Amino acid sequence: MYFYGTTGVNNIGHLEIGGIDTLELAKNFGTPLYVYDTALIRERARSFKKAFEEQQVRAQVAYASKAFSTIAMVQLAEEEGLSLDVVSGGELYTAMAAGFPTERIHFHGNNKSKEELEMALEHKIGCIVIDNFYEIELLKTICQEKTTKVNVLLRVTPGIEAHTHDYILTGQEDSKFGFDLQNGQVEAALTEVLSSEYFNVLGIHCHIGSQIFETTGFLLAAQKIVEKLAEWKETLSFEAKVLNLGGGFGIRYTKEDEPIPPAQYVSEIIKEVKQLVEQFSLTMPEIWIEPGRSLVGDAGITLYKIGSAKDVPEVRKYLAVDGGMSDNIRPALYQAKYEAVLANKPLAVSTQTVSIAGKCCESGDMLIWDLPLPEIEEDDLLAVFCTGAYGYSMANNYNRIPRPAVVFVENGIATLVVKRETYEDLIQLDLPLK
Ligand code: LLP
Repeated sequence: MYFYGTTGVNNIGHLEIGGIDTLELAKNFGTPLYVYDTALIRERARSFKKAFEEQQVRAQVAYASKAFSTIAMVQLAEEEGLSLDVVSGGELYTAMAAGFPTERIHFHGNNKSKEELEMALEHKIGCIVIDNFYEIELLKTICQEKTTKVNVLLRVTPGIEAHTHDYILTGQEDSKFGFDLQNGQVEAALTEVLSSEYFNVLGIHCHIGSQIFETTGFLLAAQKIVEKLAEWKETLSFEAKVLNLGGGFGIRYTKEDEPIPPAQYVSEIIKEVKQLVEQFSLTMPEIWIEPGRSLVGDAGITLYKIGSAKDVPEVRKYLAVDGGMSDNIRPALYQAKYEAVLANKPLAVSTQTVSIAGKCCESGDMLIWDLPLPEIEEDDLLAVFCTGAYGYSMANNYNRIPRPAVVFVENGIATLVVKRETYEDLIQLDLPLK
């Protein structure tokens, strides 16, 4: 039996996380329940940072808060000295409500509104990652109105798309994000921002994909960008102070996944950039990265109560839990795979193969297909591993199902960090017909 993150079995045979019995957690906080072992999040954050420190490279490790944005999580990121990537006014607001130092916030997005950009400027956030020509003009206007100057990165699409083990090299990337690195767009954008008095151009950003298990894609992206930097030094007298290579470092959702350790991504990236910079006689830029999933993914589990069962003879046995696509839409949206055990007897021998269904009115609301489990008894509790990234952050109220609570556990202490939604919460914004 493989246990994910810091889960294990305690002396009474129950699944535990962060030193706490999951049955206790379910009893005290109800189900479905998101549980995060924050010690593991801290460990991951530290290993990313250490990898840069060891190689004496100036860096920022920015937590991509889209993976899981709540006040407590942002505060944890702050405690660990991370920077923060936000992609909306809502994520920015959360960061500010958490008291996150605004100078370490980076603002992303392909369609930031005027209001969002104004908010970012008013709070003097660290930098805006400019995504397109429309944004250059919008930001210029706002800076002009506010007579202010802003730090910016330009997001480029380097023509590399990486997915887990595959990376695809495309001449011209078909993406809604960023300036194309190959077709002259980025030079036009760079010329524009460099000539404006409102921008302090820090450097270049790219993000090549998510759940990537190899470094090849990152190294190729670095190569393509640094080659361009060498060119721009000559043609535009521009030298980047920052090279941001985005996030996307993969994690282990199932036994089949074999990610490399966070530090290895970083050390290989650094080695490559150092070598390229030397080759082209450039000044070593700061390297920024933006891990989301790899900081929080395997630190989180979801606990569900098992309810109804349906046997389709010769075909399949369905077991339904008290949550589903409302708290984890990833299986329905991406055919994402998860593993799970019975939290009250994780070591019991599996005797059957079942498929875990959610409780939403939709056939596609399945959490796990073909999961080996022991016989099911009254009050069994299912623990799904690695739900820490893009679970809560993509949760929704389909069928008016309230969103679960979130609990942080660390060293035997459990802290409620997001309350369970109530029925009253669900109708809070509704107004009557008359
Ligand atoms: N930086 C940028 C610019 C990004 O677009 C993303 C993710 C990240 C960093 C963080 O990527 P990570 O390290 O978490 O892979 N909802 C999908 C994932 C979408 C990722 C979008 N961008 C999922 O559930 O798999």
